[in-house]
Amino acid sequence: MSGRVRKAVLPVAGLGTRVLPGAKTTPKNMLNVVDRPILSYIVEEARAAGVEHIVFIVGRGQGAIEDYFDSSPEIEGALEAKGKAEILADVRRDLPKPGQMSFVRQMAPLGLGHAVWCARDIIGDEPFAVMLPDMLMAADTPALAQAVAAHDRVGGNIVVVEPAPEGEAHKYGIVDLESQDGRLNKMRGMVEKPAPGTEPSNLFISGRYVLQPDIFPLLEKQGKGAGGEIQLTDAMAELMKIQSFHALEYEGVTYDCGDKIGLLRANVAFALRRPDLADSARRAITELL
Ligand code: G1P
Repeated sequence: MSGRVRKAVLPVAGLGTRVLPGAKTTPKNMLNVVDRPILSYIVEEARAAGVEHIVFIVGRGQGAIEDYFDSSPEIEGALEAKGKAEILADVRRDLPKPGQMSFVRQMAPLGLGHAVWCARDIIGDEPFAVMLPDMLMAADTPALAQAVAAHDRVGGNIVVVEPAPEGEAHKYGIVDLESQDGRLNKMRGMVEKPAPGTEPSNLFISGRYVLQPDIFPLLEKQGKGAGGEIQLTDAMAELMKIQSFHALEYEGVTYDCGDKIGLLRANVAFALRRPDLADSARRAITELL
């Protein structure tokens, strides 16, 4: 047991190369899934896990994210005047309580480990979550809530994992388990983007973590790893020498929205999950097929 998870770090600074040109003027995590930006779902997931404060690690040209999570007197005023209460509630749903979001500039794209390190002053000395917002997770119990529950049970550090598609494990961070029994298993190793054929398992790190603040001094001195970037996985492997890490195979389905087909699948899947849209979405899809 090691304290409650109150804060989440969302690294959003990536260029979105795989979803260009759409991501040229709209930050990639602001692209829509049905009628809301991807980040709206991620923030909802964070709140459902009890997270109170969100730290966005942003890059240049991503002001749209701050604007989205701020009030918009023009839009809200117009909706109020026209009595459009439902749309107004939708527009306001994602707004934080004052002071419960922070935006930190990652001044150079040095890697995921560096992005997380940029949050150290705001996180301070408490366990925290990291959520990779490309990965949209549909689950009855939201994925981060599953990770936080695992953390409540076993403490230490939790990494959400899932089986990699055949032949794709080398594209991800891969974990090595001590033994496998059920969904929550102690880890004995991890490696970022292993050379094909050398993967210790087919379980990849899929984008939700609960980490202890002891990761920060390790990130600070972490050298470049795979792809010439400062890798979170490498610093976690260091931390594993002194603290426990458990891998959680969460119950749900992941959509990689940093990828064209993943984004398309997320749109279809999330429309079909919406009671107000499911029927018309199903009709439209059937017609197209
Ligand atoms: C990052 C992480 C990797 C993880 C992946 C999930 O890699 O470094 O461990 O498996 O996200 O998408 P990236 O996608 O930034 O190369």
